[in-house]
Amino acid sequence: MSIMSSKKIGVIGSGTMGSGIVQLAAVSGCEVIMFDAVESASQKAVGKINATLKSLVEKNKITQVDADSAFARIKVGKSLEEFIFCDLVIEAIIEDLAVKKELFKKLEAICIPTCILASNTSSISVTSIGSACKDPGKVIGIHFFNPAPVMPLVEIIPGLATRADITNTATTIIQSWGKTTVLAKDTPGFIVNRVARPYYGEAIRIYEEGIADFATIDWAMKEFGGFKMGPFELMDFIGNDVNFKVTETVWQQFFYDPRYKPSLTQKRLYEAGFWGKKTGRGYYDYSERAVKPEPIKDEATGKQIFMRIIAMLINEAFDALYYKVATKDDLETAMTKGVNYPKGLISWAVELGFANVFKVLDDLHFIYNEERYRPSVFLRSITFANTAKSQ
Ligand SMILES: NC(=O)c1ccc[n+]([C@@H]2O[C@H](COP(=O)([O-])OP(=O)(O)OC[C@H]3O[C@@H](n4cnc5c(N)ncnc54)[C@H](O)[C@@H]3O)[C@@H](O)[C@H]2O)c1
Repeated sequence: MSIMSSKKIGVIGSGTMGSGIVQLAAVSGCEVIMFDAVESASQKAVGKINATLKSLVEKNKITQVDADSAFARIKVGKSLEEFIFCDLVIEAIIEDLAVKKELFKKLEAICIPTCILASNTSSISVTSIGSACKDPGKVIGIHFFNPAPVMPLVEIIPGLATRADITNTATTIIQSWGKTTVLAKDTPGFIVNRVARPYYGEAIRIYEEGIADFATIDWAMKEFGGFKMGPFELMDFIGNDVNFKVTETVWQQFFYDPRYKPSLTQKRLYEAGFWGKKTGRGYYDYSERAVKPEPIKDEATGKQIFMRIIAMLINEAFDALYYKVATKDDLETAMTKGVNYPKGLISWAVELGFANVFKVLDDLHFIYNEERYRPSVFLRSITFANTAKSQ
């Protein structure tokens, strides 16, 4: 057993993410203790993990012996005091700053001083969570994607006060669980949840302007971009409750920058409880008798839709690079492994031509006269530098 797999891991919150993280850590050889404010949630998670392990055995992805020993390494805690000897505690509770801060304060008082305290938050600042602790140096963001045992990417987010050795140890542990890690600056949405915003926002805007319907926009992105799912299919899959909340939080945290402004269309879906696949209705109807609408496969419109959305995504990636949210390599890895994009956005810009991407944005900026479409200063300077070189 390696040093990393002999670690004792604590997971707080046994919901969607917590249960996945528990399974992953246990299968990777760690002793895991889980706790949830609602006891039945942990029991439910244990049942779910048991069923998943069984199906992995049936599919020959794991041996019966390994499944049994992984399951035996999982313990349900009755109180936080049982987390005292953990080497790493990962919090995956409700997305609420005040509740998270309260928990981190308690954990710091309970756990041994060397314990790393991590948050799986999607959109709250790691620095602000860490500020609840006397030693914010040991607080870090470890952001898994859903489902945690399956998705290969994990974003590692040091807060302003996080010590380098904590970042290194957290990264080594997560990599020893078979994950690909990327390092992200503690900024709203980190890498993936920031850079991917236009995939949803610009698609909705195109729909709101009456340019095309959901099915046509989804078709355009799959046909001309090679995306596995169109924006509306993906929002329905993620859940319009989750997707809308992330958009709203990122927008608020960027001091209401219009580039991230949420849409009324999605807000109404959220309010109506049309959250997507899980509620049977979202942008599409998932009931048994529903007939999936057919796209209008007009090539010129499809290509225009694709270019508008991809240009907005590339713009976001360039801005993230410009503001040093991540390195170029980590940006490319994050978008291909975190949200299954067929290509990294920087390489895509090279392929499409910087000048072509810039022109789409510049035209949109001119036509709408909205801040939303302002080209990133980085994309602008690269485009002009290239043009100057070729003259
Ligand atoms: N769902 C996703 O796709 C996703 C992806 C990445 C990150 N996240 C983040 O992970 C966290 C958890 O999300 P989720 O989707 O698993 O939520 P969830 O609602 O499925 O589970 C949250 C669990 O936390 C428990 N809980 C709430 N407050 C608690 C407290 N004070 N102490 C102990 N337990 C408490 C709840 O009872 C619930 O079982 C959030 O911060 C979310 O932003 C979610």
